[in-house]
Amino acid sequence: MRIVITGAAGFIGSQTAHLLLSSGHDVIGIDSMTNYYDPLIKVARVAQLVQTSNFSFQKRDLAKDDCRDLLDQDTVVIHLAAQPGVRASWSEFESYANANVTATKHLLDAALECGVPRVIYASSSSVYGNSSDFPTTETAPLEPMSPYAVSKLAGEQLCRLYASERGLHTTSLRYFTVYGPGQRPDMLTHRLIAAAHNGAPVRIFGTGNQIRDFTFVGDVARANVAAITADSSPGQVFNIAGGSAVSIKEMIESVEAAVGLGQRIQQIPAPPVSGDVPRTDGSASLAESILGWKPTVDLDQGISAQVDDFRSTHAQLPRYAISA
Ligand code: NAD
Ligand code: UGA
Repeated sequence: MRIVITGAAGFIGSQTAHLLLSSGHDVIGIDSMTNYYDPLIKVARVAQLVQTSNFSFQKRDLAKDDCRDLLDQDTVVIHLAAQPGVRASWSEFESYANANVTATKHLLDAALECGVPRVIYASSSSVYGNSSDFPTTETAPLEPMSPYAVSKLAGEQLCRLYASERGLHTTSLRYFTVYGPGQRPDMLTHRLIAAAHNGAPVRIFGTGNQIRDFTFVGDVARANVAAITADSSPGQVFNIAGGSAVSIKEMIESVEAAVGLGQRIQQIPAPPVSGDVPRTDGSASLAESILGWKPTVDLDQGISAQVDDFRSTHAQLPRYAISA
């Protein structure tokens, strides 16, 4: 099977590509190599992927560039390309609208025209906003609390619309805070591990009592692969929730136990407007019954894998290490 992965130079995209390549699939990666974080990190990920002969890479901006030449009836698309980041999305909204909405619309049009059998869309737990139903199921109210979350929900709604009105088979996967090897340098777990190695402080926004359902990146990559062949209905939505719903304080304690943080935590007041929700805690029951997916890596195993990866690879990229 041939799979096009958009956002292939990204954190989750590159891990998904490695998983598919290890099972012998042909993978085409597309990425515009944005500078939201150091593009050298992305270059290094692509350099690793192109060592496998059945991987090829196309630098394209899906909001502007055509990609129909890469799509056909035998090609599944995993659409991960996006402008991520909850807290940064209050400013520079144009990049969120372009990458998360316009690019998704262009891709769905191209997929439809080329007869692509299935598009898998990377949605986000952030679409639930301040949920009060735990564990949150897919039918809970959708009340995004940040411009990022609004843009991800818009992309998800486009996927639903193209399934119901245009006959394109789409699947949306709502990932919950993904961590593990190669994590984006703006995210909490990376910042904690980098701080333990380079001495930089980590600012914790607010009480640290906010809860995240941390999900290991290898499990997320498996969910993406499971969605390719699953017996799902067109337009269906699934939570991909890791089953490790813990507070930020508990995450800090786990990293401390794994790597030793010392006095690097600086607690600061939560910004008055951030889009940071108090709790995410998702039910993965639907994914288990239809995708045959459930998380397999617990928090201690996942942190240990991320620490090992940081030490063996990322610490050697100077800009990666100081980005915390
Ligand atoms: P990432 O930033 O590492 O990867 C996204 C990639 O998309 C980047 O390499 C970027 O260069 C590329 N990109 C951006 N705009 C593009 C465009 N117009 N054309 C082509 N490429 C473009 O982020 P990630 O953490 O790997 O996230 C991947 C996906 O998963 C995103 O859709 C994100 O919204 C979603 N998601 C991530 C998390 C998480 O915790 N990391 C949780 C929920 C959902
Ligand atoms: C993450 C991703 O960044 C989003 O792209 C994704 O859509 C979202 O998960 C999701 O689940 O849908 P977030 O949960 O904010 O968003 O992930 P982190 O950046 O790892 O933050 C986790 C928590 O730690 C948040 O409460 C945040 O406020 C806190 N944090 C983060 C800090 O206190 N300090 C930091 O330096 C970074």
